[in-house]
Amino acid sequence: MKPDLLLLCPLFPATMEQLDAAYTVHRYYQAADKDAFVAGLRDRITAAATAGHHGMSVELMRKFPKLKIVSCFGVGVDGIDVPAARELGIAVTNTPDVLTECVADNALALVLATMRRTVFNDKFVRAGSWLKGNAPLADKVSGNRMGIIGLGRIGKAIAKRAEAFGMKIAYHSRNRQNGVAYDYYDRPLELARDVKVLVVACPGGKETENIVSSEVIAALGKDGYLINVSRGTTVDEPALVDALVNGRLAGAGLDVFVAEPKVPEALFKLDNVVLQPHVSSGTHWTRAAMGQLVVDNLAAYFAGKPLLTQV
Ligand code: GLV
Repeated sequence: MKPDLLLLCPLFPATMEQLDAAYTVHRYYQAADKDAFVAGLRDRITAAATAGHHGMSVELMRKFPKLKIVSCFGVGVDGIDVPAARELGIAVTNTPDVLTECVADNALALVLATMRRTVFNDKFVRAGSWLKGNAPLADKVSGNRMGIIGLGRIGKAIAKRAEAFGMKIAYHSRNRQNGVAYDYYDRPLELARDVKVLVVACPGGKETENIVSSEVIAALGKDGYLINVSRGTTVDEPALVDALVNGRLAGAGLDVFVAEPKVPEALFKLDNVVLQPHVSSGTHWTRAAMGQLVVDNLAAYFAGKPLLTQV
């Protein structure tokens, strides 16, 4: 008999195959009658898998009194109230480290594509506009000033890449980091005022909600760029859209949105904006490694071994 596993949302296909091979997987998201589904499994479920952003509500956790682990696909676990889970005796695991490089790579791709107008220029060539004249000029990346909000693993990997472009790095995070030579700002507002491009790489959740406020956007100003590879919730999205539409920000490169996959349509018309469908970790290698961590954490739990990456 395979152990039971509650699956809250679809995951990377190869990961789901592994889960199906090892467990009897109960797909919550496919259940038409959720109450009946939960009632039938109430005393059988000790483990669940989900995506960190999708999460699992405390209300749902409470419905499974024997639940002991929620294994999350993704580094950010903003979809889960981790302290509440802890109080219920439920361990939460995530997938750190394996995605750091790809997220940082994509942040740099967005910096380059936005400031150098790569997507606009591609469209310009395809539309035959080059035959009628040269494309408008872009902004210089190398040697410019980059601010990073959130200097964790991902923020540091972004900084390292930007340093290779000769960029001067400054950052804001909850605390000043030891052993880091970059300028520290204890408020995002002053950081935004002093940089050309502001990259958001902090975790999502209540603590960082609208950390890029309308004031921070105003401080970045009409010559500044905003890049977001963290969560849509970190930015005051209506204020961002308003600033972009009215030329009060030079451009933005966005991988994440408040109500994704819904993206504010006002952005679709703008040439100075590069939009991505939340794919910073979306490479074959990284998604496979993330999935393996989901699987390995569950296997460790069922084998009574220490969890690999508990939050
Ligand atoms: C993706 O957004 C993640 O949290 O890993």
